[in-house]
Amino acid sequence: MSLDSLEELVSFCKRRGFVYQSASIYGGLQGVYDFGPLGVELKKNIKDAWWKSMVYMRDDIEGVDAALLTQKHVLKNSGHEDTFSDPMTDCKVCKKRFRTDHLESDKCPSCGATELTESREFNLMLKTNVGPVVDEDAFAYLRPETAQGIFTNFKNVLDSASPKIPFGIAQIGKAFRNEITPKNFIFRVREFEQMELEFFVEPGTDDTWHEYWVENRLKWWEDQGVPRSSLVLEHQTADDLAHYSKATVDILYHFPHGLEELEGVANRTDYDLGSHSKEQQDLHLSATVKTNEESCAKLIVQPQNNDPKKYVPFVIEPSAGVERAFLAILSEAYTKENLADGKSRVVLKLKPHLAPIKVAVTPLAKNKPELVNLAKEVVQKLRQSISGRVALEAGGNIGKMYRKNDEIGTPVCITIDFESIESDVQTVTLRDRDTMEQTRIPVSELPQTIAKMLS
Ligand code: GAP
Repeated sequence: MSLDSLEELVSFCKRRGFVYQSASIYGGLQGVYDFGPLGVELKKNIKDAWWKSMVYMRDDIEGVDAALLTQKHVLKNSGHEDTFSDPMTDCKVCKKRFRTDHLESDKCPSCGATELTESREFNLMLKTNVGPVVDEDAFAYLRPETAQGIFTNFKNVLDSASPKIPFGIAQIGKAFRNEITPKNFIFRVREFEQMELEFFVEPGTDDTWHEYWVENRLKWWEDQGVPRSSLVLEHQTADDLAHYSKATVDILYHFPHGLEELEGVANRTDYDLGSHSKEQQDLHLSATVKTNEESCAKLIVQPQNNDPKKYVPFVIEPSAGVERAFLAILSEAYTKENLADGKSRVVLKLKPHLAPIKVAVTPLAKNKPELVNLAKEVVQKLRQSISGRVALEAGGNIGKMYRKNDEIGTPVCITIDFESIESDVQTVTLRDRDTMEQTRIPVSELPQTIAKMLS
């Protein structure tokens, strides 16, 4: 059995320390969440898995980490100032605001009144003041997507790392959107993280690369425990396409609240690099705006066959939200099982590389120093050889400890009992999360055995 509802997951996430409402002691900030001790580990492991597949396993992708504060001209030229908006409608009776495209009828979804305002566009970008002078012009945007920091660094990466086309630049980081109606827990929030790749290709090869990246991403989701059977591919219609896109394939997932976008894979053509190049800036910017030499650089490459005709590369962009990945991976892993003894358990069947805690070690009794000391020794030994958290449990109620670790997805539990200290060869009991099978092995074999179980 899996989850009954989104509410069940929300309460689980709070109870076990995965996700909390931000500033909850002050009533909370809507659309903003904090990640707790286990949430921060799961989130990090998801990002590491993405980075590994995009950057470490390939020769054709470099990483960057660009600033969150974004100069306004960047987002003027990228088209965000003019077009990054959602349609908004107000209820004249209860004064609540809604996204017009989310309204199911011409009634207010909150109070049922029919007196709604005309729909108008609401820009989603958040601004902040920069520098000591507070005036109309002294502001920067909090980036609404990580992508622009890649485009504005295109020439820097080209000049410093000398990649040959086709090549990509990857980035993971925060993005901010003043969503009109943040909702469904961490699905639609105002502060979130994106894992974005901009893959630069020769014009004419873009359709083939687009297909390649959709397939590549489906494989990656499968490796994170989200099988193809849980995903739906949707080709955006011309009306839905973002201003920069020629074609976008959305990867949809059956979230607990419904079928919605998990990731988008867009063909952004040469729109962004073209817009940031000088000719385009001249078209888009008013004559009063000053730009320096560097920012006016043409973002073009020389063809590999030494054809003197340079071109602006096309861009394929797989873009996934970390929070949505977190929600999909948790929903997929969350399992309720009836056990042979008539009891039941919740087990988070996370892939081991995503598990917040890799191994939990516990002494059978917490008041027996010999057991506690050996447990501490085992933990220290494993911390040297295992990448990720190894937890020392206080000991005592072993059944309770197993249940808790099943629920938070710990793949392996180790128990130190009297046999561990009494026999000539120190041995411990290993318990597998999914099968619940227990085996006894010598302490000396722990690092190799556990590495195998986690791989
Ligand atoms: N650079 C392209 C881009 O930003 P997008 O479809 O607007 O495209 C990409 O966003 C991904 O970012 C989405 O598929 C989703 O996973 C995530 N995302 C977007 N808005 C979000 C929000 N308000 N809260 C959480 N995740 C969001």
